[in-house]
Amino acid sequence: MSRYVLITPNSDFERLVQLAVTGMHGALHVFQADYLPEGPADIIRQMQGEPPEVLILGPGLPVEGSLKLASVMDLQYPEISVVLAATATPETVLQAMRAGVRDFLDPGADTDTIRVMLERASLAAAGRRRGLAPQTSEHADHGGAGRVIAVMSPKGGVGKTTVATNLAVGLGKTSPMGVVIVDLDLQFGDVASGLLLEPDFTITDAVMGAASQDSMVLKTYLTVHPAGIYALCAPRSPIEMDRITAAHVSHLLDQLRQEFHYIVVDTAPGLGEHVLATLEQATDAVWICGMDVPSIRGMRTGFQILEELNLAPERRHIVLNMADRRAGLTLKDVEATVGAPVDVVLPRSKNLPYSTNKGVPVLQDGSKDAASKGLRQLVERFKPGWEARPHKQLHRRAVFQ
Ligand SMILES: Nc1ncnc2c1ncn2[C@@H]1O[C@H](COP(=O)(O)OP(=O)(O)O)[C@@H](O)[C@H]1O
Ligand SMILES: [Mg+2]
Repeated sequence: MSRYVLITPNSDFERLVQLAVTGMHGALHVFQADYLPEGPADIIRQMQGEPPEVLILGPGLPVEGSLKLASVMDLQYPEISVVLAATATPETVLQAMRAGVRDFLDPGADTDTIRVMLERASLAAAGRRRGLAPQTSEHADHGGAGRVIAVMSPKGGVGKTTVATNLAVGLGKTSPMGVVIVDLDLQFGDVASGLLLEPDFTITDAVMGAASQDSMVLKTYLTVHPAGIYALCAPRSPIEMDRITAAHVSHLLDQLRQEFHYIVVDTAPGLGEHVLATLEQATDAVWICGMDVPSIRGMRTGFQILEELNLAPERRHIVLNMADRRAGLTLKDVEATVGAPVDVVLPRSKNLPYSTNKGVPVLQDGSKDAASKGLRQLVERFKPGWEARPHKQLHRRAVFQ
């Protein structure tokens, strides 16, 4: 099924939209034309009777005609979102609003902007369709089996948020709009700051009221990040934590795994009730350990407790962060104390604090240093078929250069 229809004579713009929808769920159907169809029925007929979710008009189409088509569309097929790709002037914005146009797309926009706008337009379309036919389900096509990845550590300040944000951005490249990062560090969460987001809604809104009853409402409470991922940020004030229960967390993750391929959960240090609730749902645990004895011992104890509680997720990934040979420990020492092999090593790197402060994860801006390389290796572990591929053993010597 084509979710998106584009009418334009402009092949450069067509290429940009094509790039933007690559990897997204649903296809793009392009009509290369500099004239408009007679009416909505004309388009639907060409689509074998299946209406799209989003119709993009232009650039290169007569704006007046586009607005006319948009208003007829709005009357006959209100569930289809119309996006106008034209330069917005005050007059056209007003006319477009009256015609029921959902959004303006600047013809010079980049693919990230186009992707985010299309996702929003199709969310709005899905919402309206549900309003019209509440019995239809809009669930994603992966059978509700999204992977829930808990990023955790016994201690704070060891790199959980750094790893979680980079993992989400990295996975977003293979699964655009199929990834959500959830900040469960409910008191001092900093996913929003690490991703330079200013959320309109937070996790408090998501677990109370309408969103908890309806996954479509929940999706509109998420914040869209330009890298093509969603985020659910921590409450604005630490006292809100008390209102969020373990049962809220369970239900939330349950809802999200119906809608997303990957749910990356950043957590507060330790094994509090929200972390335990996350582990109940998690398919994967990513443990972050620093290069210090308390951090390494804490991890061993953590593993033991989870085994006893029978809460250890199916897959475990151990990340040794801030690796530095000046710490006076070897990888062997770490593995012996933890009692398990380390899967990924991230060396200490100047780029990471800088990227945290800038609010741009290193995997977003394509840095090439050793820490980024390690983060990319971590992302690879979550791609389909990873288990089946041959893997090199961690190169021990390379670790502490
Ligand atoms: N490998 C690394 N090298 C240098 N600094 C790092 C590294 N990993 C994380 N940091 C920095 O350490 C600080 C704490 O990391 P953060 O991810 O917020 O930890 P946590 O979420 O576990 O509290 C951040 O400023 C981050 O940029
Ligand atoms: Mg953190």
